[in-house]
Amino acid sequence: MQFIDLKAQLAHMRPAIDKRIAKVLDHGQFIMGPEVFELEEQLAEYVGVKHCISCANGTDALQLSLMALGIGPDDTVITTAFSFFATAEVIPLVGATPYFVDIDPHTYNICPVSLEQGIADAKKQGLIPKAVIAVDLFGLPANYPELERICQRHNLRLIEDAAQGFGGSIKGQKAGSFGDIATTSFFPAKPLGCYGDGGAIFTNNDQLAELCKSLRIHGKGENKYDNVRVGMNSRLDTIQAAILLEKLTCFEHELAKRQQISSDYSTQLHEYFNTPSVPQDYQSAWAQYTLTSKQNDREYWLKKLQKDDIPCAIYYPTGLNQQKPMLGYISMDTPNSDKLCEHVFSIPIHSYLTLQQKNSILDGLLRNPL
Ligand SMILES: Cc1ncc(COP(=O)(O)O)c(C=O)c1O
Repeated sequence: MQFIDLKAQLAHMRPAIDKRIAKVLDHGQFIMGPEVFELEEQLAEYVGVKHCISCANGTDALQLSLMALGIGPDDTVITTAFSFFATAEVIPLVGATPYFVDIDPHTYNICPVSLEQGIADAKKQGLIPKAVIAVDLFGLPANYPELERICQRHNLRLIEDAAQGFGGSIKGQKAGSFGDIATTSFFPAKPLGCYGDGGAIFTNNDQLAELCKSLRIHGKGENKYDNVRVGMNSRLDTIQAAILLEKLTCFEHELAKRQQISSDYSTQLHEYFNTPSVPQDYQSAWAQYTLTSKQNDREYWLKKLQKDDIPCAIYYPTGLNQQKPMLGYISMDTPNSDKLCEHVFSIPIHSYLTLQQKNSILDGLLRNPL
């Protein structure tokens, strides 16, 4: 059994993917070919925003967004303590200062109350908060109605890191459409993944979109050899765009399958584990299905699953504020994040999980002591 079975997915779509790749090989426009623009149009429509700007990966998408917002030295960016390293890494990359706040103990996403306290504390410490990066952790959109209100009140720009959340929604509004600008990743294991690295930026703001288009190609102006600002080389390969166009045709169906699996897991497991909490009107993209042990016995479950040949993973064993390069920056106390690092583990959830595989995962967690 695979944690995320990309081979099983490919088996379902191989002829169509081969055809799409062959078309790119035939036309030969490997950089910024027609598939890149077709994909951007389709993704913008899917998310329900004016602009989609594709780029080389989800980390660059975050960095490009910070650059487009003009975030740099002297600025502080507030973010969650519980995410993948890239969320925080991009902040010092643009010369700004990260400041970490805690998560909500139920959704595991950035906690609005901790954010309010963090803004006040950061200002007291002489920092200048300019932006917030919220993360749609494990596929669940963060509490954007509240986050947007807080950011407006404090004149902060809001970035949605939807690397894991693409496909999720709040009251039907899709992940990738919240805040001033949003980003996603097409890393192969993500809800919508390509066969290499890829990423995208979403915004309704024309000016930010134009800046991102320039910044992703060496700060280009009128043309490629007219460079009007310092940018990056961060384009999505045409072949990856072609693969994503094909994968997008199955995406809704895949989301529905993961939704069904998560609902079966939760029904069976909630008595014994803390299962994911999805607020009313929210839809998760189910990038991960993450449990927390109720009795401080994660090690037992990890061993048990290993013995049964069931792959599992710990997202994340260390909070961002505890990672070595971040130790010099200020953080709120983060008891919820710290606790999760010790208790969480994720079990396989993907759209090609068979009934038999699902049942053996449930058996592994419900029966047969070690
Ligand atoms: C929350 C989050 N942000 C950013 C990224 C970075 O994406 P990428 O690996 O495409 O650079 C990832 C994934 O890897 C992620 O999970």
